[in-house]
Amino acid sequence: MANYLVTGANRGIGLEFTRQILHRGERVVACCRNPEGATELEALATAQNDDRLVICRLDVMQATAIASLPELLEKKGILIDVLIPNAGVAASSERLGLIQEETMLRVLHTNAVAPMLIAQAFADHLQAPKRNAKIICISSDLGSITYASGLTFGLSYGMSKAALNMGVKKLSSDLAHRGVMIVAMHPGWVQTDMGGPNARFTPTESTLAMLRVIDKLSMAQSGLFIDHQGQQLPW
Ligand SMILES: NC(=O)c1ccc[n+]([C@@H]2O[C@H](COP(=O)([O-])OP(=O)(O)OC[C@H]3O[C@@H](n4cnc5c(N)ncnc54)[C@H](OP(=O)(O)O)[C@@H]3O)[C@@H](O)[C@H]2O)c1
Repeated sequence: MANYLVTGANRGIGLEFTRQILHRGERVVACCRNPEGATELEALATAQNDDRLVICRLDVMQATAIASLPELLEKKGILIDVLIPNAGVAASSERLGLIQEETMLRVLHTNAVAPMLIAQAFADHLQAPKRNAKIICISSDLGSITYASGLTFGLSYGMSKAALNMGVKKLSSDLAHRGVMIVAMHPGWVQTDMGGPNARFTPTESTLAMLRVIDKLSMAQSGLFIDHQGQQLPW
């Protein structure tokens, strides 16, 4: 049984990852910033009737909480095989003249800084011969500079995911020395609170496709920016 850790697991794509991984018979450490309000995770835990769902408090803006998480899991005897920094935020109403420092820093921190701190915190924890450990940073095609339009709309979000992609590339060599691979993965345009109701894929479709790709990922693909079907995306 493999152990997965998902951040932002209380709704959207993170919740669907949690559902599907449990359905496959694996264990999930489902991290969310407010476990008391995570009713759908609680319902999954109740239905589960075993110890394969571990709900864990984690606000990814809190660096000390990130740093202490691996040891906390080790004390419970849990070693993570697949780490999925998924938690993310977008900012609405960004236009030239409406750009705000606080918003930009929050989006950059959540989407780019936090996944790097999470990868760093777990680097030793994931390192174990033959464990084939993987870090799947949930990115976005809106972080592709090649695809970007010249419009200010989505400024912080696009910048944050481009920064995340760079971070994935930059960490890939150091992690490879430890036998850990890392990718930036675009989930497609997905029907969640963030993606909205008109998005192309349901969370089920997107996550099913991502898990199929994740299963097959090898060290040869470390440092790449790929989509939910495994296709490489331009930086
Ligand atoms: N949906 C799409 O079309 C799409 C496309 C490309 C990429 N993505 C990426 O996919 C990932 C998941 O997005 P989604 O569509 O599922 O979005 P969502 O429905 O808005 O869910 C976002 C999740 O992130 C969590 N989160 C935000 N800030 C956090 C923090 N500081 N600490 C811990 N958790 C935090 C939220 O928790 P709370 O409930 O506590 O706020 C929630 O669980 C994101 O990285 C997003 O950028 C989504």
